[in-house]
Amino acid sequence: MTSAEAAGFDVIAHRGASAYAPEHSWPAYELAMEMGVDFLEPDLQMTADGELVAFHDPTLDRTASPPGGGRGERARGAVRELTLEELRRLEVGRWFNERHPERARPGYEGLTVVTFEELLERWGDRVGWYPEMKNPELTPGMEEALATLLERHGFTGAGEERGRVLVQCFSRAALERFREFAPALPRVQLLGPEAVSDRAVEGVLAEVAEYAQGVGPHHRLVDARFLEAAHIRGLLVHPWTVDDPAEMDRLIGLGVDGLFTNAPDRLLEKLGRRP
Ligand code: G3P
Ligand code: CA
Repeated sequence: MTSAEAAGFDVIAHRGASAYAPEHSWPAYELAMEMGVDFLEPDLQMTADGELVAFHDPTLDRTASPPGGGRGERARGAVRELTLEELRRLEVGRWFNERHPERARPGYEGLTVVTFEELLERWGDRVGWYPEMKNPELTPGMEEALATLLERHGFTGAGEERGRVLVQCFSRAALERFREFAPALPRVQLLGPEAVSDRAVEGVLAEVAEYAQGVGPHHRLVDARFLEAAHIRGLLVHPWTVDDPAEMDRLIGLGVDGLFTNAPDRLLEKLGRRP
């Protein structure tokens, strides 16, 4: 890859630099920014009072702990059933220290949930944004809330004047609803590992090209045939989630347009863009 190609390759910090700090926490995003990534990826859940928060799971029990809780103790319930204020009372970093003792830091204890708006306020157009609407069928109105928030922060078009935004989702219906509220913002259809198992890849990608500008496939779906079928239809290809150096090499060699990774430093190093 030439240096020009490396510069056009999108390094997407998956949940922040989440290999090194608790996913979706300030330290994870700050680290990604220090590394010099092209995009930050917040997974979005919507709270009971309509706030969009950076949080992967629909439920609390993997990454949120009750205040003052003991080791291994986790909160219960669904994110969408709590208001932002209630959610902020929970702690979201301790799980990481317990699960990854070799990467644990005292500063990761006591972290609280971050909203997408706070991220936008902090970094604005200094980085690209790659929000994912998570389980939109459980929180009606999420598409409009996201479009409104992006518009309020000046992200209304293709992005040259205000940084890049790509909106991703596993749900075609949600992407099409989002298009009604923000027609000019590019959309990326996520595909799980089984998405093309019983259908020809060309058929799947032809359909995606009718309503999206990119595709985010599970990395194992991507081979030369997949890539050609996507590029011929004008779709960006951003596979997820690739931390393995050999798999990074394979996908870079095939010619993908970027990668979601928990370890952006590793990918930047490969691209000759020193973190
Ligand atoms: O958004 C791409 C990839 O992150 C999809 O999987 O579960 O990590 O959000 P997940
Ligand atoms: Ca995601």
